[in-house]
Amino acid sequence: MSDQPVTTGEDAAGAAGEIRPGMAFSGGFRGAGEGVPEELRPGVIETRGMNVYYGDFEAVSGIDLNFQYNEISALIGPSGCGKSTVLRSLNRMNDLIPSARTEGEVIYHGENIYAPGVDPVEIRRRLGMVFQKPNPFPKSIYDNIAWGVKINGFKGSRADMDDVVQRALEQAALWDEVKDKLKESGLSLSGGQQQRLCIARAVATQPDVVLMDEPCSALDPIATLRIEELMLELKKDYSIIIVTHNMQQAARVSDRTAFFNVELDNRGMRTGHLVEFSPTDLLFTNPKQTQTEDYITGRFG
Ligand SMILES: Nc1ncnc2c1ncn2[C@@H]1O[C@H](COP(=O)(O)OP(=O)(O)OP(=O)(O)O)[C@@H](O)[C@H]1O
Ligand SMILES: [Mg+2]
Repeated sequence: MSDQPVTTGEDAAGAAGEIRPGMAFSGGFRGAGEGVPEELRPGVIETRGMNVYYGDFEAVSGIDLNFQYNEISALIGPSGCGKSTVLRSLNRMNDLIPSARTEGEVIYHGENIYAPGVDPVEIRRRLGMVFQKPNPFPKSIYDNIAWGVKINGFKGSRADMDDVVQRALEQAALWDEVKDKLKESGLSLSGGQQQRLCIARAVATQPDVVLMDEPCSALDPIATLRIEELMLELKKDYSIIIVTHNMQQAARVSDRTAFFNVELDNRGMRTGHLVEFSPTDLLFTNPKQTQTEDYITGRFG
């Protein structure tokens, strides 16, 4: 159910992604806080006391996270600890799951994305998502990108659109491989190329955060390294939050790592919580919590 492309999904079609006058998230905050002590710096997106439920089941509880601009943040932890749930709550994708409910605040550019009147379609444009399994549309390579851009209200000429498509494919390090076959189906590409096409599709709508849920788990080691190099390149322009099961990957690419774990609550429910969010080199060499140390040294999970 979560494997739906959202910025370009059906729910986006009606709203056409227009930005209304007076709407929050006017942008212009990129790189904010440079030179300011880290603890005082506003993040690009911050969760405050966030709890997410599926029906009566509390999947994650009390999540406080502050993701920094132009960094790669990794979310790690055992299966079922709520990594995907947390990621989807950052761009209101959980709204698409009927039983899901989010409590607390998610502050993006100083505004709570769950406040009344905030348009979830616009939020999903600003915080693009890339999924575990590459999911290009059964359309041409060109249209895989152009469609979402059009749905989000693009009014330029065909030549302008050509430029948008080229730039997105260049940013995703795919242009050289596909520039002579833009009319061919996105599904004709290799798995790694399809994932880069999905990344191109996500960046084409000019988000400032890219959320990735295990984006390499369906890829071979070479395609994986390619995506990791791409992430390092993209973080100059975007803030990236990635869920990964691969601790080497988190160590290789991320600036900061959040470790989640599950605990049985007094009703016997397995609720996920954040154990530690630290600079990646510290988390892997000198974790603050015993639970983190046990996990990264393979004592459980
Ligand atoms: N759509 C849903 N409906 C009901 N419960 C769900 C739904 N999605 C997730 N959950 C539950 O919420 C909890 C957290 O799931 P989530 O998928 O976020 O974990 P995860 O850390 O991403 O796991 P994995 O590493 O296996 O992907 C789990 O107990 C899961 O069963
Ligand atoms: Mg998951």
